[in-house]
Amino acid sequence: MKKIKPPVEPFRIKTVERIKITSRKEREEILKRAGFNVFNIPAEKVFIDLLTDSGTSAMSDNQWAGLMVGDESYAGAKNFFHLQETVRNIFCFKHVIPTHQGRAAERILFETLLKKGDSVPSNIHFDTTRANIEVRGAQAVDLVIDEAYDPDSEHPFKGNMDVDKLKKFIEKKGRERIPLVMLTITNNSGGGQPVSVKNIKEVSQVCKKYRIPLFFDACRFAENAYFVKKRENGYEKRSVLEIAQEIFSYGQGATMSAKKDALVNIGGFVALDDDLLAEKLKNQLIISEGFPTYGGLAGRDLEAIARGLEEVLEEDYLEYRINQVAYLARLLDEAGIPIFKPVGGHAVYLLADRFLPHIPRHQYPGWALTVALYREAGIRAVEIGGVMFAKKDRKTGREVFPKLELVRLAIPRRVYTSAHLDYVAEAIIGIYKNRDKIRGLRIVRESPYLRHFTAQLEEI
Ligand code: F0G
Repeated sequence: MKKIKPPVEPFRIKTVERIKITSRKEREEILKRAGFNVFNIPAEKVFIDLLTDSGTSAMSDNQWAGLMVGDESYAGAKNFFHLQETVRNIFCFKHVIPTHQGRAAERILFETLLKKGDSVPSNIHFDTTRANIEVRGAQAVDLVIDEAYDPDSEHPFKGNMDVDKLKKFIEKKGRERIPLVMLTITNNSGGGQPVSVKNIKEVSQVCKKYRIPLFFDACRFAENAYFVKKRENGYEKRSVLEIAQEIFSYGQGATMSAKKDALVNIGGFVALDDDLLAEKLKNQLIISEGFPTYGGLAGRDLEAIARGLEEVLEEDYLEYRINQVAYLARLLDEAGIPIFKPVGGHAVYLLADRFLPHIPRHQYPGWALTVALYREAGIRAVEIGGVMFAKKDRKTGREVFPKLELVRLAIPRRVYTSAHLDYVAEAIIGIYKNRDKIRGLRIVRESPYLRHFTAQLEEI
C-alpha cells in the first residue's frame, strides 16, 4: 500500500510543552473518578487532547511578541485600532466591537435584536448560538441542505443552506418575525463543512428581497475560504483574503470567536455596518463586557487577535492546516474506520453508531467511544450524539435521538505534529479491532441543561 504522507509544517518549534502518557491502570481510576465523563478529567492527565480546536491554538512568535506591546489603557488602546483596521480589511464592516469570546458577541447581538416569538434561520446553529436565541424566547431554525445529514454524501459544500427552505420559511413566518438570518462558516455542527460563495450569494439575495440582514457566524471563515479556493469553480486563482472579502460583502455583519481562526486562546468580536445597531450593541457591551475599545479583553489580547487574523490567511498555513486534518482522516478511512465524509476543516468525525453497532442508541455508543479512546490511549475527544443532543419526549419521557451519533476529533491549530496524528490513528484502529469489548453506558446523574458537561455515567 502507498504510504500516506502528512503535510510538511510551515513552521518550526521554538517552545515546547511537555505532555505525559499515563498508564492504562491510572486512566481506569481517573475515568471512575470522572464519572466516565471526559470533561471531568484534568487536562494534565490527557496525552492527546482533541476535545476542541477552540482556544487551543499555538500562538506564533509574532503573536507572543505582540503581547509585549499590549497597551492597557482603559480607553482607546492602540491595539484596538490595529484590530479594527485588520478586521475592516478582511470583513469589510465598519464597526468592530470586541468581546471576550464568541458567545458574548452572540449574546449582545441577540439581546438587542430578538423579541419573544422571533425566529433566526441558519444552516445549522452552533449550540451557544442556539442557546442565546432560545433564552430570548426566540426560535433557532436549521435550514441546511439535506445532504448535510448523509455521512456518505461527498457534496463539496455540505454546509450550504437550502435556499428554497429559506424562502418558504420566510413566507410562512413573515419577515417581521425574522430579525436576521445567519450562516455558520464552516458549519461546525454539521461536520465542519464549508458553504460555497454561490450559496452565500443566493442566500443574500433572498435576504435582500425580504429586507432581512444576513450575519455570519465567522469562527472558521479562513478555513471556509480555503475550501472555496480549492473546490469552487472560478476561485482557484483568487487569494484567500479576496475570497473572504467577497464572502463578507454579501452580509451585513458577523459574530466571531477569535479562539478558532484568529489563532488565539481567548477573544471574539461583532463586526457590522449598521450605525444605529452598533450603538445599541456598544451600550449592551458596556454593561457586561467592558468599554467598546476593549470589550472584556486586555490590550495584549487585542494585539494577538489582530496578528492572528493576518497569519491565518497565509496560504501555506491553510494548506497545511486543511491537509493535516485530511491526513488523519485518510489514515482512518483506509483502515476501514467509519468517518463522516468529506472531511471537514477543523476535525475528523467518527460515525460512532457504525463503529459500535452492538451498542444501542440509548446506551450512548458515541460516549462509549470517547471512554474507550481515553482508556486505551489517553486521547480526549467529544461526543456529539445522544448524550449531548437527545431530547426527552414530554409524554413518554423517552429520549429522542439526533440523526447522527458522532465523536469529534478536533485538531488544535499548529499544536500537534504528524507523529501525534499517527499515534491517534493507530490507537483508533486498535480500538476498532477490539470494538466488541466496548460497553454501553447509563446516566446516573444529569443536569437539565447541556447535560454532557456534567453528567455522571456508569458502564453497563
Ligand atoms: N460558533 C461556532 C460555530 C462555534 O464553533 C463556537 C464554539 C461558537 C460560536 C462560540 O464561541 O466558544 O468563543 O464562545 N465552538 C467551540 C467548539 C466551543 O468546541 O466547537 P466561543
